[in-house]
Amino acid sequence: MTPDCALVVLISGAGTNLQALMDADDLPVNIKAVISNRADAGGLERARRAGIPTRVLPHQDFESREAYDSALAELIDAYRPDLVVLAGFMRILSDRFVEHYTGRMLNIHPSLLPAFRGLHTHRRALEAGCAEHGCSVHFVTPDLDAGPVIVQARVAVSRDDSETTLAARVQQQEHRIYPLAVRWFAEGRLRLCENGILMDGKPMTQPVVV
Ligand code: GAR
Repeated sequence: MTPDCALVVLISGAGTNLQALMDADDLPVNIKAVISNRADAGGLERARRAGIPTRVLPHQDFESREAYDSALAELIDAYRPDLVVLAGFMRILSDRFVEHYTGRMLNIHPSLLPAFRGLHTHRRALEAGCAEHGCSVHFVTPDLDAGPVIVQARVAVSRDDSETTLAARVQQQEHRIYPLAVRWFAEGRLRLCENGILMDGKPMTQPVVV
């Protein structure tokens, strides 16, 4: 039997995506640690309840982004992860940090990338009058929210949607697609190579839409 894929999950907030990963049936992963830049991140309590080690590395304690990222990488690497999972980790990452984890770091973003990189995606989708919105899981590369997209889920935008109602429906989909992408990686089906994503050894030309 192949050993479970070792994960380190980085969070800054409520940790509902972390919860979806912890709850996923038969996911062949071992969450070695949950690390947050904020001591008040709700996801830390979720991890503690599940008996997963937690660490807090406050960004305010560091003089520069590079210094923080270097300490963060040291902390992460102590757990020897096969995959680093960004689950609402609200930090811009230095190129050096990202390059260290090339091909072994995933992020979930609340939009149909390449649309609406950055913050306030639900508000921006409503303001733009989009008929569809959604979420994407992608490999992390140095350009913010611009790495190769693995899987997306679409959500129809209704006339009466507010930022809150739309965000809630998108989050439900996040909880479906993040465990899926992590599963593909953990099963060795998904890899990043120089020319893009390989799925089952074949180039993935379009993100999977589920
Ligand atoms: C999620 O909606 C995720 O897509 C978003 O933060 C939220 C975290 O929620 N991430 C980003 O905006 C990254 N750019 P959670 O803490 O409940 O998983």
